[in-house]
Amino acid sequence: MTVLGIESSCDECSAAIVRNGTDILSLRTITQTQIHARFDGVVPEVASRAHVEAVMPVVRDAIDHAGIAMDTIELVAATSQPGLSGSLTVGLSFAKAFAFSRGIPFVAVDHMLAHTYAPCLVEDLVYPYLILLVSGGHTLIGITHGAEDLEVLGTTIDDACGEAFDKVGNYLGLDYPGGPRIDALARQGDSRAYRFPVPKLNNANQRYDLSYSGLKTAVIHQRHRFHDTRYGETKENIAASFQKAAVDMLLNRLYNAVSDTGITRVAAGGGVAANSYLRSALESDRKLQVTIPPIELCMDNGAMVAGLGYHHYLRYGKSSLDTGVRARVSAFRYGGE
Ligand code: KG4
Ligand code: ZN
Repeated sequence: MTVLGIESSCDECSAAIVRNGTDILSLRTITQTQIHARFDGVVPEVASRAHVEAVMPVVRDAIDHAGIAMDTIELVAATSQPGLSGSLTVGLSFAKAFAFSRGIPFVAVDHMLAHTYAPCLVEDLVYPYLILLVSGGHTLIGITHGAEDLEVLGTTIDDACGEAFDKVGNYLGLDYPGGPRIDALARQGDSRAYRFPVPKLNNANQRYDLSYSGLKTAVIHQRHRFHDTRYGETKENIAASFQKAAVDMLLNRLYNAVSDTGITRVAAGGGVAANSYLRSALESDRKLQVTIPPIELCMDNGAMVAGLGYHHYLRYGKSSLDTGVRARVSAFRYGGE
C-alpha cells in the first residue's frame, strides 16, 4: 500500500511516500529553523503561516521524487496531535482535502507514537523495546509494546532536553538551535571543568523522570559555583560540561529502565538523538541492542507518519474527516483509540 504522510506539528513541514509501512520512496522536509532563529525559538503564528506556504510544494516534491503517479497513492496520513494547533491544522486540513478530493482514505496519527515508530523504518525491531525520545519539545522514556502501544515510564518534569540545549546555546552566544552548536563546541572542551548538579528525583515513582530547569539555571546563573579551577572558564569547557550533565541524566534514567524491566533493546529519536556524545555512549554499550535512526528520521518527518499511518489503517480503518487537532494529550499509557 502506497501512503502519503504529512507532518506539520511544529516547525518542520514534511511529506513522504512510504510503501507498506517501511519502504521509503521519498522524504522531503522544509525546515523553518532560519525563520525562527531571529526570535531564538519557534513563534507559533509565524510557524503556521510558513506551513501554509510550504505544504503544497513539499507534498508535490515528495510525489515527484518518489517517481510515482499521484493516483497510485492509496492512503493519506497526517499528524493530528500533540503540537502547535495552528501548525497541526495546516497539515491535517491539507491531508483531509487531498484524501477527500481523490476519494481515498485518510488517517490521523499521534506525533509521539510516530516518533516511537521511526526506528522501525530502519530495522525490523522486535517488541517490546525501550524508547528514548528527546527533542526541543519532548523528553520521554517509555516501553514500546506495539506500533501504537507506548507505555510512558517517565518524562521531564519541567523543560525539554533540547530546549535546555537551545537556552544554554543562546547564553553562550551561539545561533539557534543551540544543540548542534554545543555538540560541536563540546568536542574541543573538557567536561571536567564544571561539575553541574544532578537533580534530586529519588522517589520510587520518579526513577525515569528528568528535570532540566535546575541544570539550565546552574549553567546560566551560577556556573562559577561549580567550576574546577584547574580548567579554563572557556565556552568550549562550559559546552562540554553542560552536554555531559544533560546526556548523563538521560542515560542514568534509561539505565534505570533497563535494569527494572530487563529490556535491553533500546531505540532513540528526536533531534537530540543526533548528539554525538549520546550516540557514542549508547552505541558503545555492548549490553544493549541500540537502534538510532539517521537524523532525518529522528527529527520531525513525514516518513514516520506514513509508516505509522499504514499500521493504524490496517488495525482501525480510516479516520473520520471530522478529526480535529489536539495541542496537548495526557501523557500516560498511550495506545490504540
Ligand atoms: O526533533 P526536533 O527537530 O524538533 C522538535 O523539537 O520537535 O528537535 C530539535 C531539537 C533542538 O532543541 C536542537 O537543539 C536539538 O534537537 N538538537 C541537538 C542536536 N541536534 C539537534 N541537541 C543536542 N545535540 C545535537 N547534535
Ligand atoms: Zn517531534
